[in-house]
Amino acid sequence: MLTGQRILVTSGPTHEPIDPVRYIANRSSGAQGTAIATALRDLGAQVIFVTGPATVPPPVGVQVVRVETALEMLDAVEAALPVSAAIMAAAVADWRVQNAAGQKMKKTAQGLPELRFIENPDILHTLSHHEKRPRLVVGFAAETENVIAHATAKRDRKGCDWIVANDVSPATGIMGGTDNMVHLISENGVEDWPRMAKTDVAIRLAHRMAEALA
Ligand code: CTP
Ligand code: CA
Repeated sequence: MLTGQRILVTSGPTHEPIDPVRYIANRSSGAQGTAIATALRDLGAQVIFVTGPATVPPPVGVQVVRVETALEMLDAVEAALPVSAAIMAAAVADWRVQNAAGQKMKKTAQGLPELRFIENPDILHTLSHHEKRPRLVVGFAAETENVIAHATAKRDRKGCDWIVANDVSPATGIMGGTDNMVHLISENGVEDWPRMAKTDVAIRLAHRMAEALA
């Protein structure tokens, strides 16, 4: 059980504005993050659920913090500390538009707009090196090739404890589906989990987290 433990979950996509009525987004539905928050809640955790604009509704019985952008998500994550564990399932936009317009951009005779991108902060990396670092930090890695190698390198680069890696290449049908097939990468190596519902991945992960925090 996780009774009384404060656990942070990030979920969903982020939206990065181009102007007040337009944004850059990605295809994350928030389904896996929502399932994880639900499973942690069911084990008795006090869940802080920081979510971008997801298509699936957030779970009931958790503290929901709604954000739009990666910068807002970083602020919300830092404001939630201290927590015992954090699991970062959000699909954070890697870049935002540096020259976002304050007013709606208009078609003009001068031609097409030129968007300039700037890198967003890495929330998982920031949390893994934070002075209030949670005892257990878990990241995700969605890859389309060399899944284990890329995810193992990502774990080292981010400084998190575990990486939940999955293959999202189109042939797997994982992206946008109800199932997931993941590998859990930790200091003890790689565990291959069978293909199962995202809700079952979440339950198994929540139990593993409870064991690790016990
Ligand atoms: N992540 C984050 N902040 C970012 C980007 C990613 O917290 N700005 C987190 C995600 O929530 C996820 C993990 O980092 O848990 C890995 O995300 P991913 O996009 O796979 O990693 P990147 O470092 O952005 O690498 P890539 O170039 O493969 O996108
Ligand atoms: Ca990325």
